[in-house]
Amino acid sequence: MTDLQVRNLRPEFGAEITGLDPVAPLDPAVVRQLRGLFRERGLLVFPNLNPDARFQTYLAEQLVDERTIDPDALHVDELHQVSNVEKIAAVPLGRLMFHSDTMWEEDGCKAISLFGKVVEPGAIPTMFVSIAHAWNTLPEGLRARVQGRFAIHCSDATDQRDTYVSDDVMVVDFGSKQRLRLPIAYPHPRTGQTVLYVSPQLTHHIEGFDHHESEPLLNALFDHMYAEQNVFTYNWRQGDLVVWDNLAIQHARPDLRADAPARTLRKTLVPAYMVEAATAPTFKATYKRFGD
Ligand SMILES: [Fe+2]
Repeated sequence: MTDLQVRNLRPEFGAEITGLDPVAPLDPAVVRQLRGLFRERGLLVFPNLNPDARFQTYLAEQLVDERTIDPDALHVDELHQVSNVEKIAAVPLGRLMFHSDTMWEEDGCKAISLFGKVVEPGAIPTMFVSIAHAWNTLPEGLRARVQGRFAIHCSDATDQRDTYVSDDVMVVDFGSKQRLRLPIAYPHPRTGQTVLYVSPQLTHHIEGFDHHESEPLLNALFDHMYAEQNVFTYNWRQGDLVVWDNLAIQHARPDLRADAPARTLRKTLVPAYMVEAATAPTFKATYKRFGD
């Protein structure tokens, strides 16, 4: 019987788990325990797990899916990776401000996993914050200003930021004109928690405000969300696997340069349907997808 050891990384989110054997399929009792930990902690670090691409894909899917996943039936992409040294790589260079992946897509992303495939000493970290915690601790005055309001997200909002942008920020152009309108107080589809769903990388503006009204309000939210005491900085070690809930946890990274220590992270994404996620009937009626 697998005996997992669990250590919380921060009071509000994150756990480190050792004792897992990376062989699929996992025992159903282990899956239940891991799923419970993922739901509760939002981010799981498996030090020195060294999973192959199939196990990595399987584990991330199984953490958010109540059904039993057949590991052999999964589509596995060995070459989906973030790297500053490999030719085939996503988001290779530059700083990324805090975001959840694909915030502008109706078909979004429930969970992300990154495996430290090649990590040289001194490789830059990934930073995480809990946007469930951000909502729970949002000062009453700010909460009143955004409750019931919607934000518009797009594939790159860096040109909207009057602050929070420095020259090293990567402009990620997916060539998408699509925007998605979602409640700022977003109801998490799996946990039921409300999360504070805006980000400096991908939130264009708050609906109903012009830029000069929207931007200061967003900045006040960002000051709260990314205050130093809320940020968990994870320093990569080769062999580690990190899996997080993309709808409860945001991530960012400092500037990544081609001549920096090698940092190649194999990535998987678990799809989510964002519109269905809003369970309140008033939200369902007001979702819409629109372009520029
Ligand atoms: Fe990302």
